[in-house]
This record gives sequence, structure tokens and C-alpha cells, in this order.
Amino acid sequence: MEDVSISELVKSYDTPCYVYSQQAILDVYHDYNESFAAIDHRICYAVKANSNIAVLGVLAAAGAGFDIVSRGELARVLAAGGQASRVVFSGVGKTRDDIEFALTQGISCFNVESISELTLINMVAKQLDKRAPISLRVNPDVDAKTHPYISTGLKDNKFGIAHDKALAVYEHAATLSHIDIVGIDCHIGSQLTEVAPFIAALDKVIELIHSLREKGIELRHVDLGGGLGVRYIEEKPVTIDEFAQALLPKLTELGLTVFFEPGRSMVANAGILLTRVDVLKPTEHKNFAIVDAAMNDLIRPALYQAEMAVIPEVLPSEGIETDGTQAWDIVGAICETGDFLAKDRLLSLATGDILAITGAGAYGFAMSSNYNSRPRAAEVMVVGTQHQLIGKRETIADLYAGETLWQTEK
Ligand code: LLP
Repeated sequence: MEDVSISELVKSYDTPCYVYSQQAILDVYHDYNESFAAIDHRICYAVKANSNIAVLGVLAAAGAGFDIVSRGELARVLAAGGQASRVVFSGVGKTRDDIEFALTQGISCFNVESISELTLINMVAKQLDKRAPISLRVNPDVDAKTHPYISTGLKDNKFGIAHDKALAVYEHAATLSHIDIVGIDCHIGSQLTEVAPFIAALDKVIELIHSLREKGIELRHVDLGGGLGVRYIEEKPVTIDEFAQALLPKLTELGLTVFFEPGRSMVANAGILLTRVDVLKPTEHKNFAIVDAAMNDLIRPALYQAEMAVIPEVLPSEGIETDGTQAWDIVGAICETGDFLAKDRLLSLATGDILAITGAGAYGFAMSSNYNSRPRAAEVMVVGTQHQLIGKRETIADLYAGETLWQTEK
């Protein structure tokens, strides 16, 4: 990782351990900015992908905005030195507390997904004697051609306001006393590898912007969400530059400020999960390598059948044909058949070996849990030859620190 050896990281922090390269995160952030330099734009990093405050801090210092989905995420952004005025707030179920906190802090925009949410925001804003800046999240009904669990722009997904209802909802929003209409947004899904669905969604959004102009509703920004895919093993997603080249002609003509909400593409390939092989269990049908990370640390393979690369600390010098190479299922120690990190990987393994699961910077630690009463992993950031602990490994005592025994009255 950058200029730090894996063995030094393992010696310092033990396993399982997430490691993030600061430079890799900044490189992608700069890539986005350079690719869209021709237009007024803001990159609002989707905090959900990796919400460690050190990661947020690096992006805040570089000038990024943030896309949040809860007041917890907003608190993290503020703790990391981010500015509320560069935050957009997404999500289908914002609570009164969420809205109140966001309004008090002065966020840039609420991405609204329903009339009932609009009503609630207007009410809370009135009580606080503030005006709430809003955008409507439009569901453009385009197929993002990605895993169904991470596809969000289809009619039968819970997200957004149907394209054919959006105009009426904007007109309604314009009548509300404490609402300022500032933008329009959409997010059609995650891990998109092609540009066509983005273009299809943008076309639908542009159509609406024109209809809104005819009704005298002028917007300041258009937010195209996140969703750009990354290479985990063999995917060949469009590059950020190709993505920009495809969208720029239409966006330039529109003349609005453009927001993006990238999560995965900003951090996935900046992070790895280090894990140690504890037990080798060859059977007649399968070879299992039981490692010290599990589905509680990294749930993507179990939840989405995601395939992520697993590489040994020391790469075999003569390729995978070297003696001892076999197909291994890399599994955790949790009592579930679904607890696997990878299947049928050609590796030459011995107990005690260290493996790195790559592409783990996004939706890795952020989705981890304590299932089977397993403390969550350590998180480390690397900068050049330096490394620092940015997330302490949980202790056994942490696991039930917030729990109490039932108090029987005497
Ligand atoms: N904006 C909104 C409104 C979103 O819902 C999401 C992700 C993003 C932006 C960021 O999308 P990205 O650039 O990361 O694709 N846990 C899943 C991914 C869930 C994505 C949810 N929404 C996974 O590990 O594949």
C-alpha cells in the first residue's frame, strides 16, 4: 500500500484490517474535477461508501462536498471538517430529527423523494423559521443493468418521484411557504459499467428541466447521483474521463451547476482488507481456507454475490502454475453457508498466510457488523511511507458495552 509493506501493516495492526491509500482517494477526486473542469460542478462524495472520518477529512480538505443519508452521516462530515453548505441530503425516509439537524447546520440541498417528505420539510422549516433548499429526486425509469439490489432507477424501486408525476410535485413545492426549489436529481443505481443508462437518465431529466422552465420554475443545479462502476476483477467500466466526455455536451448546453454523488468509484480501489488464513480444510469436493475476516467484515460477496479479487501477500514468482496451487473457497468462521469472501480461487496457501481482498475501500467496513459477536476490524490509512490507525479494532468489552441485564425488583 503506497510505500508501506503489508508485513509492516500486519505487524502493527494485526488482522483483519482495512487499509486505505490516501493518494488513491485523492487521485480519483482530482480525476473527477479535471474531467468536469469545463463546467461548474461539485463532487459530493457519497458518505455511505466509506464513512471513516479520516477518509471524509481528506476529501473535505481537498474541497469536496458530501452526499449524506442520515444525521449520523452529517455529524461525521462536520467532525471531519466538512462544510454543511456543500452537503446534499438523499434518502427516502428522512426523519424530523434528520431534517431539523440538517436545516440548523445549513445544508445545501434536500433531495426529496415524496410529497409527504416535502410536507414534513416545509413544516420543520417553518417551525425553525428557515427556508429549506430542495431538489426532487426523479425516478427516470431506466435500467441501470446492474445487480437488482443496487438498481434504483426503475419504476418498481422505492426511490424517487415518478418522471410523469415530477412536474406536478414541483408545482406543488412552489406553493409551499418555507421551501426553495433549487435543483433536480436522480440516481439510477450503483456499479454501472456503461455510460448509456446515465445518458438515458440525463435525457429524461433535461426534458423535465425544459418543462419546468416553461412553467417559470428555474433551477440552479442538476445532480446526477453516483453509480460509476469500478474494476473488481474483470469488469471494464467506462473511465471517469469517458463518462465526462459523454455527458459534457448535454451538460454544457444546460448551463446549470452539476453535482455528482460518487461513492464506490472514489474509494473502492483505494482500500484492501487484510486477513490471515487460520485453517485449511481440504475436502473431497471443495478446499476451504478459513480466514479471520468474515461476512460481518465484508458482506458484499454474501449479499450481492460480488466477486472481489483475493491476492496473496507474496505473489508467486512463477505465476499460478507453481506447485501447490489449488482452487480454494475463502470463507469466514461464521455459522452460515453464506459466509464466504470468494469462491474457487487459484492460490497456493499455508496457514498463517496473509491475503488481501482488493476493492474493499467501498461498502466494506461501512457495512460491517458484530454478527456472531465478532469485534469490528481495525482501519488504517497510508500516506507514502507513513501509516496511522484511523479506526480502532473493537474489543470484546465494546461488544456489549451498551447492554444491561434485566433489573429484577427486590
Ligand atoms: N447517491 C445515492 C442517492 C445513492 O443511493 C448512492 C448509493 C450513491 C449516491 C453512491 O453510489 P455509488 O457511486 O457508490 O455507486 N452496498 C452496495 C452499493 C449500494 C449503493 C447504494 N446507493 C454494494 O456494496 O455494492
